[in-house]
Amino acid sequence: MDLFDNIVENEPRNVQLAPGAVLLTGFARSFETPLLAAASSVVECAPFRHLVTPGGHRMSVAMTSCGTAGWVSDRTGYRYTAIDPETRQPWPPMPDAFVDLALRAADKAGYANFRPDACLINRYGPGAKLSLHQDKDELDFNAPIVSVSLGLPATFLFGGLNRNDKTARYRLAHGDVVVWGGPVRLAYHGVLPLADGYHPLLGSQRINLTFRKTR
Ligand code: SIN
Ligand code: FE2
Repeated sequence: MDLFDNIVENEPRNVQLAPGAVLLTGFARSFETPLLAAASSVVECAPFRHLVTPGGHRMSVAMTSCGTAGWVSDRTGYRYTAIDPETRQPWPPMPDAFVDLALRAADKAGYANFRPDACLINRYGPGAKLSLHQDKDELDFNAPIVSVSLGLPATFLFGGLNRNDKTARYRLAHGDVVVWGGPVRLAYHGVLPLADGYHPLLGSQRINLTFRKTR
């Protein structure tokens, strides 16, 4: 399937991407104010930065984290850390508004009692992209991944358990939430280069929150 499935915006729908993966359109919309305020407070303590991959490439997406673990990448590899290597302080605690939304979205998708300990905050400017990858640095693959899109729309790629599996494309707009776990917890996914545009709340950027249970 290669369709922009959620064409009718403003109308919340649950779109199954695969068994175990669901797109909840507009789910986070009514939480936009507390979510964006909470994200700003995290970024004040742990600023966005462009991480370097083990291969030496500077990522086009700027990232930061909150929670008891934060995701980092450098020449030595990918991992979760308790301390932000930039600030040398613990990552900011996960805001209540984040925990609350992640729990509700996971619940709606059929994953009860989701208790994330890490939230990676991704900032995409025009042209920024995330290559196809698996979220596999966590120790607990029983918990799902909850991904919240805010600001400019993006094209999300969702594939299978092998890198070469066919990927489907979904348009993720402001307020959309994708939850994947169970049989597709290790599905390959990515984001195509962000098209330029203007969002009334976020200007020419997209913010993505991904919640994980790392241990
Ligand atoms: C991610 O895979 O960590 C982010 C996905 C997204 O930005 O939608
Ligand atoms: Fe990911």
